[in-house]
Amino acid sequence: MRLKDKVAVITGGASGMGRATVLRFLAEGASVVIADYNISTGEETISLAEEAGFGDRTSFIRTDVAREADIEAMIAHAVARYGRLDILFNNAGVGGAIGPLTETTVEDWDYTFDVLAKGVFLGIKHGTRVMKAQGNGGSIINTASIAGLSGDAGPLVYSAAKAAVISLSKSAAVELAPERIRVNAICPGFIATPLAGRGDPERLRAAFARSQPWPEAGSGDHIAGVALFLASDDAVFVTGEAIVVDGGLTAAGPELSKKFSQVSARDASVSGITKGSTGEPPELRRL
Ligand SMILES: NC(=O)c1ccc[n+]([C@@H]2O[C@H](COP(=O)([O-])OP(=O)(O)OC[C@H]3O[C@@H](n4cnc5c(N)ncnc54)[C@H](O)[C@@H]3O)[C@@H](O)[C@H]2O)c1
Repeated sequence: MRLKDKVAVITGGASGMGRATVLRFLAEGASVVIADYNISTGEETISLAEEAGFGDRTSFIRTDVAREADIEAMIAHAVARYGRLDILFNNAGVGGAIGPLTETTVEDWDYTFDVLAKGVFLGIKHGTRVMKAQGNGGSIINTASIAGLSGDAGPLVYSAAKAAVISLSKSAAVELAPERIRVNAICPGFIATPLAGRGDPERLRAAFARSQPWPEAGSGDHIAGVALFLASDDAVFVTGEAIVVDGGLTAAGPELSKKFSQVSARDASVSGITKGSTGEPPELRRL
């Protein structure tokens, strides 16, 4: 029971990686507030928690993370219902604006940033007020994305907003460290959730598995495991970190071995050394 007697709020807790984390945190002994825009998937998640025997430790509050009054109500709900706040997982998200840069409206930009970046800022702001007043620290986890780390891993506005989440997490971590409030970001790769694709889930998982070094597709449970680590005391010295959870997708980088087979360093039929422009011949062994 790594979260026994802890109180957690999880935004976007009604679906995908948020729902997986709700169930994981409950199984580890926490009381969990599910804060989500979608009432029907929120009720489904409550039913799943009840079926697992955790109904007395979970509740749902309809929340739009882009609205400050909703975030204040969400944090107040956790304190009123369970007496305190130890863990805040700012995870709610949407794909947001898509399409060419020149066709992106300011309204589309604002909606995307309001949910993805402002929502995280508001969560940190109001979660921190309670954690500071309690005086014994806390853990704030923000869902960013590998889209926030490079130029072609997601739609343009989404990627910019996720980069903002990473930066916000680092700055908040520095400001809040004296209060022992840890702030970290998780950067998921391709995770098979309703957000990532609504078609045949098996095809989605197969496509994701093909796109990355790890043979199985990412799932909500993979993110829940990392969120559990960050929420727990095992991570007591981890703050300001952006942890990539992507089955080696970004580690693969330019994937030269796929694009330029003649420079492949992973040709399984040969081993040895090459000597570049030295004029010396390579010393190769056929395997
Ligand atoms: N699935 C992926 O491949 C992937 C990759 C990187 C990052 N992410 C991020 O992970 C997070 C979780 O996404 P998921 O894949 O589990 O998606 P999901 O669609 O399954 O869950 C997202 C949840 O957020 C809720 N939500 C959306 N807007 C909201 C708002 N304004 N207020 C409150 N709740 C709101 C939705 O109702 C939904 O329940 C998101 O921040 C997403 O951007 C997802």
